[in-house]
Amino acid sequence: MSSCFAHVAVSFAHVELCWILKLLSSSASCGYILVVVSVYVNGKFCKDPKLATPDDFSFLGLNIPRNTSNPDGSTVTFVNVAQIAGLNTLGVSLVSIDYAPYGQIQPHTHPRASEILVVQEGTLYVGFVTSNPENKLFTKILNKGDVFVFPIGLIHFQFNIGKTNAVAFAGLSSQNPGVITIANAVLGSDPPINPDVLARRIRMW
Ligand SMILES: *[C@@H]1O[C@H](CO)[C@@H](O)[C@H](O)[C@H]1NC(C)=O
Repeated sequence: MSSCFAHVAVSFAHVELCWILKLLSSSASCGYILVVVSVYVNGKFCKDPKLATPDDFSFLGLNIPRNTSNPDGSTVTFVNVAQIAGLNTLGVSLVSIDYAPYGQIQPHTHPRASEILVVQEGTLYVGFVTSNPENKLFTKILNKGDVFVFPIGLIHFQFNIGKTNAVAFAGLSSQNPGVITIANAVLGSDPPINPDVLARRIRMW
């Protein structure tokens, strides 16, 4: 088995313990101590590979439509290292997204992942904006079976422009992509950003 469950866990433990042991005694055996230590990688506990089960690598039920009765008219189901422990260190994850008619995923960015999205049902208007100084908007209308890529870090969105529900799946190039929703971060922070900081930019528009 690869990933956190095997080599990485062992090598991390080995490195950390060897350093500690070298401080305590130059003759200590690093290999012996490995057995008793809990190791975390990327903030997630590394399970003893002997105790891993198929459930550490699976998630069931993405076929079940999610409830989209919320202000955005969409629901994201995350399938990342928080749901599948075995994804730790593997650098991939998944989301499925249900959209009510005219539902949207508002502008957001994933600080640690590029995203590749495929529409399974419905019609989506999708896009992303490049960075300064161009801030160029790239958009596309996608139907069932169509694919679009959102490069790492760029602000992107999806909007169901059809009159029916839509469903999409997306692969992400991190086991823990992170999400920054632009409006939440800029206008909804806790505590709020000093309005003077925001007002100057808004006046310039
Ligand atoms: C969907 O969510 C809304 C809002 O939380 C709730 O009122 C409604 O009962 C839910 N519908 C179903 C079918 O669960």
